[in-house]
Order: sequence, then C-alpha cells, then structure tokens
Amino acid sequence: MARKNKKDTPLKNRVPTGIEGFDELCEGGLVRDRTYLLSGTSGAGKTVFSLQFLYNGIKDFNECGIFVATEERPKQIRENAFMFGWDLKALEDEGKLAIIDATSTKLNLKSREKYVDVRPFDMKFMIDHIISIQGEISAKRAVVDSSTSIGLYIQDISKLRIELLKLSITLEILGMTSILTCEVLDESNPNRFGIENFVTDGVIAMYFKRMENERVHSLEIYKMRGSAHSKRMNPYDITPEGIVVHPHDELYSGF
Ligand SMILES: Nc1ncnc2c1ncn2[C@@H]1O[C@H](COP(=O)(O)OP(=O)(O)O)[C@@H](O)[C@H]1O
Ligand SMILES: [Mg+2]
Repeated sequence: MARKNKKDTPLKNRVPTGIEGFDELCEGGLVRDRTYLLSGTSGAGKTVFSLQFLYNGIKDFNECGIFVATEERPKQIRENAFMFGWDLKALEDEGKLAIIDATSTKLNLKSREKYVDVRPFDMKFMIDHIISIQGEISAKRAVVDSSTSIGLYIQDISKLRIELLKLSITLEILGMTSILTCEVLDESNPNRFGIENFVTDGVIAMYFKRMENERVHSLEIYKMRGSAHSKRMNPYDITPEGIVVHPHDELYSGF
C-alpha cells in the first residue's frame, strides 16, 4: 500500500502521529516524551488511532513501539489492524513492535504470546514489564489500551491517581511518547474517573455523536501542555486505511 506524503514539517520536539490531518492541529505532532490521554466512548476509534500512531511511528519515523492490550487479546488486535493493511506480526518479528497481552490472564485464558502480563492487576509489574521491553527494543512510543481497566480495578481514587502518575512519569523517563486510552460513558467528560486528565500532559477527546439519523465522528484537542493547538471540533472518518481527520471542514451545526 502506498504511504502518504507527510507534508507537515514538525517542530523539533514533536512526534508526528502520521495520522492524516491530525498533526497540523498541534504544530506537527505530540510533544516528545509526554503522555496523552485519548478519551472517547466505545467505538469512537481509540484503538485504531493508537495502533496507527505506533504503526506510522515504525514505518515512517523509525520509532519502535509497545502496545499494552488490557481489553482485547493480541490476536484480535492483529486481525483488526490487518483490515487496515497494517501487518503488526511482521513488525513484531522484526523486533520493532511489542504487544503485551494483559487480557488473557485476567480472563483465565492461556496465552502463547511472547509478552504476557501474568499479574494483570499489578501496576508495578506492568511498569517493570514495560521497562524491560523498552530496554530490549528501544521503543520511543507506547500505548496502554486502556487505562480504564486499571481504574476499574483500583477503586480508591487517590491511589489510582498515584498509580497513573507513576505510569506516565515512567513512560516519560524512559523517553517514550505515550497514549493512554480511556473509555468514557459520558462524552461531555473526557475522564472516566475524574482524575486521568490531571496526570497526563494532554487530552485528545474523540466523539461519536448522533446527528439526526446518522452518527458522526469528531475530535478535539482538549489540552496539550507545551504546545499551541486547535480548539475546534474536527470531523474525522475511519476509512479502510485508518483514521483521516478533516481539519478544514466546517463542522455540522448542532453539535
Ligand atoms: N476495517 C475497517 N474499516 C473501516 N472502519 C473500521 C474498520 N475496522 C473498524 N472500523 C471502525 O472502527 C470502529 C472501532 O474502533 P475502535 O478503535 O475499536 O474503537 P474504540 O477503541 O474507541 O472502542 C468500528 O466500530 C468501526 O466503525
Ligand atoms: Mg478500543
């Protein structure tokens, strides 16, 4: 499949997502070595966005990636990604992508994955695992999909805040630019537990709203420390090649 031209010239400290139309919303990409929350309701496209960020990172920017899968088994993730033309298995075989199976053990299922989180509810264990894999493949990008499952396990909000802070600071110290996805029930509030927003450097909110008789996708950059960014709602499509943002399209009224 032909790769798209990356016409935006990012600022030096930027990590382009390579997602068409997105990087121009924020001076050429995410700020390097920061952690972002990607929020949205189920089906908004959070997993697709995160995978595209890692896939483009490897293919276009030579930055290896780690994907922590807490809600879907790696097999399903590979299959879904393949529908977009992204061959994750090939990248794993080349040692450029590591997928941590943090789902199977939780569901009491056996896993034959190379990287399995055998103590899925233990944040320290997850962090140690990420540190060791980062040392192995020198990853520059990471995704935890999703942080919501961590929150569902850690009920104590102050403890959750500390655990998420530990996670995001570790990712930053390791020199990785990261996305934590967060599944929200109410689109007007981009953080499920009311605290994720405070422990990340930026928040990207994805919406999937009903407009009369169809649903329309749009996203906004809700917060991005250290960067100028768009304040608009930007429509996007999930196409057979992945997410395409339309930063110059006028948004429908009544949103
Ligand atoms: N191959 C594909 N082509 C086009 N759209 C797709 C494809 N696969 C999934 N989608 C769209 O992406 C949605 C799922 O996105 P996903 O990232 O899994 O959502 P989330 O992680 O926010 O729950 C599906 O509901 C569908 O609309
Ligand atoms: Mg998902």
